[in-house]
Amino acid sequence: MIQIPKGCKDMLPSEAYLWQAVEQTARETAECYGFKEIRTPVFEHTELFLRGVGDTTDIVNKEMYTFLDKGGRSVTLRPEGTAGVARAFVEHGLQGGALPFKAYYLISAFRYERPQAGRLREFHQFGAELYGSASASADAEAILLASRFLNSLNLGEYTELHLNSIGCKHCRAKYAEALHEYFRPHVDEMCEDCRSRFVKNPLRILDCKNETCKRFTVGAPSMLDYLCDDCRAHFETLKSLLDAAGVAYTVDPRIVRGLDYYSRTVFEFTTDLIGAQATVLGGGRYDGLLEQMDAKPTPAVGFAAGIERLLLAVEAVDAPFVERLPDVYVAGMDAASRVRALEIAEELRSKGLIAECDLMDRSLKAQFKYADKLGFTFVVVIGENEMAAGEAEVRFMSGSEAERVKFGELAQYIRDYRRNH
Ligand code: HAM
Repeated sequence: MIQIPKGCKDMLPSEAYLWQAVEQTARETAECYGFKEIRTPVFEHTELFLRGVGDTTDIVNKEMYTFLDKGGRSVTLRPEGTAGVARAFVEHGLQGGALPFKAYYLISAFRYERPQAGRLREFHQFGAELYGSASASADAEAILLASRFLNSLNLGEYTELHLNSIGCKHCRAKYAEALHEYFRPHVDEMCEDCRSRFVKNPLRILDCKNETCKRFTVGAPSMLDYLCDDCRAHFETLKSLLDAAGVAYTVDPRIVRGLDYYSRTVFEFTTDLIGAQATVLGGGRYDGLLEQMDAKPTPAVGFAAGIERLLLAVEAVDAPFVERLPDVYVAGMDAASRVRALEIAEELRSKGLIAECDLMDRSLKAQFKYADKLGFTFVVVIGENEMAAGEAEVRFMSGSEAERVKFGELAQYIRDYRRNH
């Protein structure tokens, strides 16, 4: 039997309610900040990610699903959502519309990574992007949205916000020089990736997971000591806005993020609940991205959360979500009453109830067994006598005494019962 590709995951119907609850929470949270949904293609021209995500990143260098389509064009399955949203924003002339522009997305993304718990090759993200504001209040709004989302999933007390500023291209250039000085004596002992990072983007060395490289980063200069006045003021304003909103954070100069487009604010929410892949949400400001894509420069800030990691975390805590139980099973005793059972089930569905009836030509006993397995609280039984009397027999799985209810009053009866039990 052919199996699922490595690093992918099926979502089974038994897990659907949790996915849906997380997605619904994401939608509601984003919408209450005035963000609206955006959908962009699963694949884009490869060039978009080379420019957008950046050619010094692991994503671009090692992890992209890139292929030639039948017309010989190089296309890539999106490794993240930001570049596609940026392209759509420019392509549809939204820079000339009402600013700030705010959009959120729930997407699948693809990275050819070494799979492990919380790290997949096809994964899902909830992301939000805000264009047009250079103000620290926009950074604060992105973080508040992220934080409210995690709180609504009951993960507030299990996640920590790590905050940093990586400055603008001017102060970062000075910092990169300082890092060069600092790492130069050790560069030959570093991993191959870091030797190349040393040349292309030494900040990324701070993010290396290799134990030897990590040792060299202890005592490395901190970006925060190199921020120019404007970047420092931006960071201070952001911190005071978060303080005012009561959002706790740790300033962590090691947060550099794995994508090239960031400037100034970067942040990550991490958790102890799910093992090594502890970052459930990451984001930051990316004022230079549009310019990098040859569009009119427009400041921007956003984040994305990994849905699978969130689900692992939600499963580990007391999440505020329960699966909706089915309402009513309508059983028919014989051929004629099965037809009536189907009609009654349809009527109950029209009134918003979850109703099922027999599709397997089962005996009444077997119908009860199925209804019990699926968690129905009661079965509405229709037979010859019931049809003649125009009322059904409601039998309870709990064994409580059966009751007779007029066909036309079934929906109300079921609702009242649900409300009272
Ligand atoms: P990212 O940090 O690459 O940022 O990904 C965001 C989140 O997606 C991560 O924190 C993690 O939870 C999840 N994630 C990433 N890779 C995987 C994987 N292989 N398997 C499972 N989950 C994964 C971005 O993608 C940026 N576009 C975020 C952003 C939006 N920045 C500004 N706007």
